[in-house]
Amino acid sequence: SKLLLINGPNLNLLGVREPGIYGQTTLKDLEEQLTAFARENQLDLSCFQSNHEGAIIDAIHDARNNFSGIIINPGAFTHYSYAIRDAIASVDVPVIEVHISNVHKREEFRHISVIAPVCEGQIVGLGITGYKLAILAFKEWLERNV
Ligand code: DQA
Repeated sequence: SKLLLINGPNLNLLGVREPGIYGQTTLKDLEEQLTAFARENQLDLSCFQSNHEGAIIDAIHDARNNFSGIIINPGAFTHYSYAIRDAIASVDVPVIEVHISNVHKREEFRHISVIAPVCEGQIVGLGITGYKLAILAFKEWLERNV
């Protein structure tokens, strides 16, 4: 089965950006690690990153016919993008939301996700492991739903 990984704004600067919060791993390393991890679990992961809301919405729409699941870290869009929320609600593809940092330990505005109500689940605060857990969750889910 095919999964799509979407990383949103500023995550292209992973490894460089606030490493105390987001760690030292670059986006390229993250994508390579996760692609290999998915492969070990008989899943085919495609990786996409954009700083643009519309491009993320297009990627969600395009996933409709091509992917069995989406793992998304929408970055700051998490907290206010009703357009990304509506895009997820508009497609029949299950979505898992991931945040590298523990958003609940941070500023108040990060405590709210407008995306979460249209996702299957949410994983926060576990760093890069969170993305791996999302892959494992999809693996089990897909095995149950063949
Ligand atoms: C983030 C948390 C968001 O609040 C922030 O805007 C990000 C990254 C995370 O992965 O912890 O860009 O989604």
